Amino acid sequence: MPEWLNALPKAELHLHLEGSLEPELLFALAERNQIALPWADVETLRAAYAFNNLQEFLDLYYAGANVLRTEQDFYDLTWAYLQRCKVQNVIHVEPFFDPQTHTDRGIPFEVVLRGIQQALVDGEKQLGISHGLILSFLRHLPEEEAFKTLEQAMPFREAFIGVGLDSSEKGFPPRLFERVFAKARSEGLHAVAHAGEEGPPEYIWEALDLLKIKRIDHGVRAIEDERLMQRIIDEQIPLTVCPLSNIKLCVFEHMGQHNILEMLERGVKVTVNSDDPAYFGGYVGENFAALHEHLGMTEAQAKRLAQNSLDARLA
Ligand code: HPA
Ligand code: ZN
Repeated sequence: MPEWLNALPKAELHLHLEGSLEPELLFALAERNQIALPWADVETLRAAYAFNNLQEFLDLYYAGANVLRTEQDFYDLTWAYLQRCKVQNVIHVEPFFDPQTHTDRGIPFEVVLRGIQQALVDGEKQLGISHGLILSFLRHLPEEEAFKTLEQAMPFREAFIGVGLDSSEKGFPPRLFERVFAKARSEGLHAVAHAGEEGPPEYIWEALDLLKIKRIDHGVRAIEDERLMQRIIDEQIPLTVCPLSNIKLCVFEHMGQHNILEMLERGVKVTVNSDDPAYFGGYVGENFAALHEHLGMTEAQAKRLAQNSLDARLA
């Protein structure tokens, strides 16, 4: 990566902590917790990182998360991510975690949260990286389950800045979660949601109008709806775009076809993020580098993208 790109101060606003689980750490945690894995070794696992769509990725992502059992595991996961951030001059992070992926396996909510939170606090003290944690609901599960998760989170209300919505998008529109998002907002939590990654522009409208989100995660399909484009430009609603993710999950065929710079030039507040860096081929820095290499992103454009990420912080 060019040094001028690395040196830019950046914020990362779209990162699933479970998606930062590198194969080496996954194998180390499996050994520590005495869990048998379906892959022979790190290379075999890495070779399985070939996806035709979001669901194929999610199946592997949830299987990988199975090695996370103890508070120390969640600490080590988060700490490894923060060290990558430090090297790439990511000075602020607003990561997601999926409590249901863990509580449904019998891991207590507070075990997950305490490990993540302690690493974030240490990251602030020792690495100078500020943070705001976002609790994400799994949209392939019913809204009642999201309500239960929110209830479990409330004793730790101060640990979060907001709620998100992730997992399988198609067939699970934002409107299914209108009531639980209203409840979360009434607790003073910010709202964000994945919308317009694989799903249609209508899902972005719903996320804005019904969930009252402050930021759109992905949102690249907004470009198919001119009225929606005008709204997100007029209201300067940030999009947390994840270029390498979009290629790995076949949202775009090649990086040369990605629309992030076209959106930027039209005045959309787009930002660059890594989504699930262990699975998609890189962290924020590699995502910026790919835009430089394949889309001819200039230094001026990179600066605007980095500034957008700092402006779009919720914490
Ligand atoms: N989309 C939806 N859900 C997710 C993703 C994603 O890119 N990564 C982890 N959960
Ligand atoms: Zn995501």
